Amino acid sequence: MSESAFDIEDYLEQHRNKELLRFVTCGSVDDGKSSLIGRILYDTQQVLDDQLEALGRDSRKFGTTGDVPDLALLVDGLQAEREQGITIDVAYRYFTTERRKFIIADCPGHEQYTRNMVTGASTADLALVLVDASSGLQQQTRRHTYLVHLMGIRQLVVAVNKMDLVDYQQHTFDKIEQAYRRFANQLGVEGLTCIPVCALNGANVSRAAEEMPWYEGSTIVECLEQADIDELRSSHQPFRFPIQYVNRSSNDFRGYSGTLASGQVRRGDAVTALPSGKTSSIREIVSYDGSLEQAHAAQSITLRLEDEIDLSRGDWLVHANELPRVAMAFDARMVWMSERPMLPGRQYDLKLTSIDAPVTPEFIHHRVDVNTLEHHPAEQLALNEIGYCRLRSSRELTFDAFDRLPHSGSFILIDRVDNSTVGAGMIVRPVSSDHDDRPEHVTWHEMGISKRARAQQKAQRPTVLWFTGLSGAGKSTVANALEQALFKRGHHSYLLDGDNVRLGLNRDLGFSDDDRVENIRRIGEVSKLMADAGLVVLSAFISPFRADRAMVRELMEDGEFIEIHIDAPLEICEQRDPKGLYAKARAGVINNFTGIDSPYEPPLDPDVVIDTEKLSIDECVDELLVYLKQRGVLIG
Ligand code: ADX
Repeated sequence: MSESAFDIEDYLEQHRNKELLRFVTCGSVDDGKSSLIGRILYDTQQVLDDQLEALGRDSRKFGTTGDVPDLALLVDGLQAEREQGITIDVAYRYFTTERRKFIIADCPGHEQYTRNMVTGASTADLALVLVDASSGLQQQTRRHTYLVHLMGIRQLVVAVNKMDLVDYQQHTFDKIEQAYRRFANQLGVEGLTCIPVCALNGANVSRAAEEMPWYEGSTIVECLEQADIDELRSSHQPFRFPIQYVNRSSNDFRGYSGTLASGQVRRGDAVTALPSGKTSSIREIVSYDGSLEQAHAAQSITLRLEDEIDLSRGDWLVHANELPRVAMAFDARMVWMSERPMLPGRQYDLKLTSIDAPVTPEFIHHRVDVNTLEHHPAEQLALNEIGYCRLRSSRELTFDAFDRLPHSGSFILIDRVDNSTVGAGMIVRPVSSDHDDRPEHVTWHEMGISKRARAQQKAQRPTVLWFTGLSGAGKSTVANALEQALFKRGHHSYLLDGDNVRLGLNRDLGFSDDDRVENIRRIGEVSKLMADAGLVVLSAFISPFRADRAMVRELMEDGEFIEIHIDAPLEICEQRDPKGLYAKARAGVINNFTGIDSPYEPPLDPDVVIDTEKLSIDECVDELLVYLKQRGVLIG
């Protein structure tokens, strides 16, 4: 073998063993994404000579860069895109460096291409977000950040491009970085690196920029080489094996084939089959390369069991000590990808790992405005809209929460008529109480003592006084003082308070948007039960989202729900800081703090507004008593 042939073999072998990082690129239309990708490809020597030659020709025709080859044209491959100057499809590109191989999913910027973005992001380990230094954050920057976060990408690299247009000034970069971090914090993004670059001349792309001596961090390429790779492949993830088909290649061979979705399995492991719950152990792990002692995530294998248990496509094998969720309904974030809107009540086909099952969206908790992160009530989801929805199947489904195990917590919905993919979803939680699972077997029992009778006995009108407002606005204080006044007048009441309920009933919930939705949903149900008991219920919760407060109002009978906005400016609440939490939030010790890095949507049409900046507590109580008298809630 000649020396050069040997070198090539050696090179190919090294190349084969390199780790693979998949990343998605996104940004607003003119941020220079194509130029940056072109620059990365160019710098990493992947530009083939003949492509370069064609490039020379094309940049004279369409390019914007004079004599420098226009690297964007390398990337904007389609003729139509070139002429419109935008990228419209997801294009996959490959390059390699000394340390790693890379696949780039290059997604289009426009809103109408959200679904392409979702497709591109679905397999990525990292997102490279482009921002134009001369124009700052755009709506699309926020949309894309939201989407990649939604799709479970936990590492973000923000390239602040076109630094040459702002004279490489540090303060422009710092301002953009701060604004971006503020937005990303609201979403709970943790792994974030911001890099000032100039794709045109390659500054901080693969070479440290002498133009920006004030920047001491990594270049884009270094960052990509150092990023963590999909931790699902690591061994400490739970073992999930969704069965794709039952392999009966001969009379005495029965195996279950599929791709290991996460974790590891060894010969001899005890396993549980779901949803049946039957148990057995692994007799053999068969792969393309023969029998294996153990297998890990992403491997395609056939498992043989010691016992004959009846399993079929869509069933799962798991370890008994790390069970997934089994339920007939779940709440999920959905991105709608079809021109025909998602309608609650309509049936769609669900594909979740190897499971195929008809499901019906039952209702939409809310739609999310991606630019402001506000929640809005919604009856349906239109193309590219994102909503938090409840879906129900007529049989038990096996899944995980997406945030824990993306592969077994994500799904698509298929239109039953034309077989097109119409939505992508990320499961947040099962809806798994006995009641929710079998609504057709559960009916509301009218008890011997009616709500009316209970209310009459107490000589009062059951009412829910819902106090909403920022932390420190005075909700608990005013509600507490009002309850004492009601008590003195002989009312029967109960005060539900955020901190107290979170120490018990809602101990399992934190402060993410989804957890807050569930917090308010449960409080709404408890308030309803208490109103049914004939009580005047005072519920004091930040309850930051309009849609959730609207949901509670709908649970109650007409006129039973009174929304009280305990209003004080954020600055005042922050000065009061009764629990020292604002200071901690500002210091970054706690995340998702309402008003700081999590939104508060003030009521648009509250029944009462109480201004605690201007009024004393007694005055607040008096004002409320007057109002409640007018509404006929008060006795005497
Ligand atoms: S809600 O947003 O889900 O309605 P809730 O009213 O139950 O919130 O709880 C708010 C209380 O939790 C606050 O009064 C505060 O004492 C405490 N808390 C702890 N962390 C946070 C946070 N990140 N955001 C808001 N409140 C927090």
